[in-house]
Amino acid sequence: MMYELMETSVADATKEAVREHGVESLAVDDLTHTDLDKISWSGGPLHPKYVEEALNRVPGGEVEYLAVRAPSGWPVAIGGIDYAAEEGAGTLWQLATHPRLRGLGLGTRLITEAEKRIQDRGLEWARLSVEDDNGRARALYERLGYEKYGDGQESWNQVDETGNVYTHHADVALMNKRLP
Ligand SMILES: CC(C)(COP(=O)(O)OP(=O)(O)OC[C@H]1O[C@@H](n2cnc3c(N)ncnc32)[C@H](O)[C@@H]1OP(=O)(O)O)[C@@H](O)C(=O)NCCC(=O)NCCS
Repeated sequence: MMYELMETSVADATKEAVREHGVESLAVDDLTHTDLDKISWSGGPLHPKYVEEALNRVPGGEVEYLAVRAPSGWPVAIGGIDYAAEEGAGTLWQLATHPRLRGLGLGTRLITEAEKRIQDRGLEWARLSVEDDNGRARALYERLGYEKYGDGQESWNQVDETGNVYTHHADVALMNKRLP
């Protein structure tokens, strides 16, 4: 409950900052373990655990994990880059913007920064996958220059309303973009 109230003021302050100074005024840096208790907005109950597993792969260089920050420093959009998923490419995954802040350009800002990180590693390709029924996210990726190159299937655990864990199977479009 306390976090819900904090999140409301964090979201309001972020909206105001974007309105007054543009989305470029928000900092983008690395997500850390100390942020993990501030990302419950980013998915189901299991999601922070998946993010933690991803963060544990950062020191070995396999993963980078980015956060767009509210003026107070709270992470309000997050997403990872997996360098081990496919050789020669950075694979964006677990992208999420706080539900109250979608459509403001935070996702675009995060992806643009992620593409720079991939280029900094001397790689030419950014990749991602998107569920076939997530048309809005796909439209965003297409607008940013990603093109579909195949179909795939992915699965991960989720929790239903009664607390039971089940495996969600998804048909996904595989998309990539050649970085300049
Ligand atoms: C997809 C997502 C990360 C985009 O982040 P964002 O900060 O809203 O992105 P931007 O503001 O830069 O771009 C907005 C575009 O994102 C897309 N979008 C997807 N879901 C959206 C939503 N719920 N609200 C607003 N825009 C959404 C639309 O194409 C939108 O364009 P539009 O404004 O012309 O409709 C974010 O909407 C989100 O967290 N969605 C839920 C989780 C998810 O689907 N993750 C992607 C898995 S591949």
